[in-house]
Amino acid sequence: MIDINKLVRKNVLKLTPYSSARDEFLGKTGIFMDANENPYGTLNRYPDPYQKELKKAISGFKGISEENIFLGNGSDEIIDLCFRVFCNPGKDKVLTFPPTYGMYEVSASVNDIEVLKVPLTDSFQINLLKVKPLLEDKALKLIFICSPNNPTGNAMNQKDVEYILKSFNGIIVIDEAYNDFNDKPSFLNHVDKYPNLILMQTFSKALGLAAVRVGMAFTNPVIVQYFNKMKPPYNISAINQKAALRKLNKGEVLKVQVVKIKKERERLSSELRKVRITEIVYPSDANFLLIKVNNANDLYNKLVNKNIIVRNRSNAIENCLRITVGKKSENDKLIKALNDINND
Ligand SMILES: Cc1ncc(COP(=O)(O)O)c(C=O)c1O
Repeated sequence: MIDINKLVRKNVLKLTPYSSARDEFLGKTGIFMDANENPYGTLNRYPDPYQKELKKAISGFKGISEENIFLGNGSDEIIDLCFRVFCNPGKDKVLTFPPTYGMYEVSASVNDIEVLKVPLTDSFQINLLKVKPLLEDKALKLIFICSPNNPTGNAMNQKDVEYILKSFNGIIVIDEAYNDFNDKPSFLNHVDKYPNLILMQTFSKALGLAAVRVGMAFTNPVIVQYFNKMKPPYNISAINQKAALRKLNKGEVLKVQVVKIKKERERLSSELRKVRITEIVYPSDANFLLIKVNNANDLYNKLVNKNIIVRNRSNAIENCLRITVGKKSENDKLIKALNDINND
């Protein structure tokens, strides 16, 4: 059995966290004279530092116990916490599978952590043969698996992810930001089985609250406690906790939206295949499509001139654009613009 405490940085083990007014008095009623707040107003009080009401709702929504949930100011805060809790600057290493979500490498650099990179195979899967020897490296503390992967759009093979889970004794983060659009099962039910697994999801994609900045980590309660120790005390504002709570009450609307987006993804994918300008439309388990064209920079600029903004990913994958699935009318405009550019 992996002992998480042995993986944690020594300064974090010893750290005495900030104790806020809301840590020291847990009651909800009384005359509050303990946090130097302004006594007037409606948003004048500090929010719940542990977001208990929201976690309770997420627990019901996802079917996982509240003690397994940590909430960050977006998944990006959780990514950064993984480095700060588990990796010693200038000494430890992280493993990523590029092309993938850029924040893993940025956060690694911010924390002075060396990034080992094993590029995905031609079919955008994990190259296990190249990964296996790296798992023995004692300085390797963290592995990020993005599934479905951004920007390629595909989910990783379940058996490859399971191999890494079974073989690696450090921390494994599975980033499932796009999992609601994926027909294959989530790894959420692996959290109980692997104490070193941190499974991330977010309110920013299918839950439609990118502006609100709430990321979720589902993991072992010991890791939740270390994250709580390290985070700023009030990392999720009261307004944002409320917005997230309200969204979870709209489960049926969300389901309908996801079905619509997936249907549009398939339609857009088949329409894009008909446009001469696109060389490859890659299969997607997410809410975006990666396409390969002859000259991505040129096409990107031509689309911007037509007021359509896609993401130019050619610096990560040669001549590739990433297109977020929009509403039907927006997707139609994109197809028309591509046909017009084709005929110019
Ligand atoms: C794979 C992946 N993970 C995480 C995020 C960021 O999520 P959040 O908005 O919760 O910080 C993104 C955003 O694009 C993403 O693509």
